[in-house]
Amino acid sequence: MGEICVTLTDIEGSVVEIRDGAEGETLMELARRHDVKGIIAECGGACSCATCHVYIDAAWSAAVGAPDPVEEDMLDMVEDIRRPTSRLSCQITLHPGLDGLAVEVAPEL
Ligand code: FES
Repeated sequence: MGEICVTLTDIEGSVVEIRDGAEGETLMELARRHDVKGIIAECGGACSCATCHVYIDAAWSAAVGAPDPVEEDMLDMVEDIRRPTSRLSCQITLHPGLDGLAVEVAPEL
């Protein structure tokens, strides 16, 4: 496995530090591999469920980038809890530039 570090705050507020993120793995896959609470990923990463919704730490927002139009449509479905830094974690592919990334798991609808 790789060495990309990611800090996730799960839906219960526990901070989970993960140190074995691999380049090419999605943030959702990494979170599921570590059983991070609140990342359900019902659709398996097909960008059609929004149960992998996370809030990107503001300091990392630019590095992670903006959602594409398909993801944007899915995020509209969770607009009640959407924030400016909302992303679907299955649509974020890890790479060395994201080493140190911090995100918070969004609450369930
Ligand atoms: S896992 Fe379903 S949208 Fe991300």
